[in-house]
Amino acid sequence: MAAAARPALKRALPSLRSSTFLPRQQQPQCHHHVPTSRRSLSTTPSHRNDTQPTTPSDEETHFGFSTVTTSQKRALVASVFTSVADSYDKMNDLMSFGWHRIWKDHFVSTLNPGFSPLSSTSPTSPQHILDIAGGTGDIAFRLLHHAHTVNSNPNVKVTISDINRAMLSVGKSRSAALPASQQAALSFVEANAEDLRKTRPLTPILSQTEQTFFDPATATSGLEDDSVDLYTVAFGIRNFSDIPAALAEAYRVLKPGGVFACLEFSKADKHPLFNSVYKEWSFRAIPLIGQLVAGDRDSYQYLVESIERFPRQEEFRDLIKGAGFRVSGDGGWEDLTGGVAAIHRGMKPRE
Ligand SMILES: C[S@@+](CC[C@H](N)C(=O)[O-])C[C@H]1O[C@@H](n2cnc3c(N)ncnc32)[C@H](O)[C@@H]1O
Repeated sequence: MAAAARPALKRALPSLRSSTFLPRQQQPQCHHHVPTSRRSLSTTPSHRNDTQPTTPSDEETHFGFSTVTTSQKRALVASVFTSVADSYDKMNDLMSFGWHRIWKDHFVSTLNPGFSPLSSTSPTSPQHILDIAGGTGDIAFRLLHHAHTVNSNPNVKVTISDINRAMLSVGKSRSAALPASQQAALSFVEANAEDLRKTRPLTPILSQTEQTFFDPATATSGLEDDSVDLYTVAFGIRNFSDIPAALAEAYRVLKPGGVFACLEFSKADKHPLFNSVYKEWSFRAIPLIGQLVAGDRDSYQYLVESIERFPRQEEFRDLIKGAGFRVSGDGGWEDLTGGVAAIHRGMKPRE
């Protein structure tokens, strides 16, 4: 799909750079960031119709360093992930030197899925986990493994949801390697994180010209209020067009006492020397690696710009609080690798 989405992104980007969007010289002076969680490349079908806006929303937002409307951003983000889907896992390892695996393992083990301190008499109490922007399944598979194997709780079910069918389809294929009991506890759902009232089960991609991102007009179901015990989102939220809307949806679908948990790139600027090396690597090496390995420089340029654009730890913590969550701990987040990534958590109050 890469071949298809790449030209679409290339067609769209020049117009972004040159029209109402920020001139290059006015763009933030950020060069570089560390990547880690995406892999881009792509190789699937070819001409997918991923640049068609799907909603009439015209609020301004950012696509990397460009200013776009929310509907444009959705279409552009769709193009990026359609383009990178097939090489996402490989590129992630390459760009992060494997660090994304360590962060993801840590993220999941600190959440300890399958264990319920409130039901210590019934350690196998059912849990519904929703992994949003789940992509190719890295987090969902770890959650299931931890719950079923580490905590011996077979009553944990994970819904892996993403706006992009191409990414989910790769995840679905990968899930075939999981034990049968874990496959049975996993479901794949197409949805925009900003409106979880409209979802549908993953549908196969039948043709190379097909749109690969979720069209809410085709929804057949939706996630109910107070229905989820744990909501996870890893390396996804910075791609959303409307982060407060997604946080409001997280709050809506979580049960009282349920936990919102986010793993995302963040700011490492408390350590200036390290930070400058990290940014050099991000802005110089990542797009180049994307070009050489995945044949897709633009998508990787977006990925590093989107990291730079994402709010710093305190600001994001405040957005989470603003959605109604209670946060705890030192400031409400945990820095990983000096702040290159951070874990934020919030609890939906019981009352
Ligand atoms: C970098 S990948 C992360 C995948 C996975 N969570 C991981 O850590 O490997 C980001 C994912 O966010 C998804 N995404 C972007 N915007 C979205 C939205 N509005 N709603 C749901 N998913 C979205 C993309 O399709 C992509 O699969």
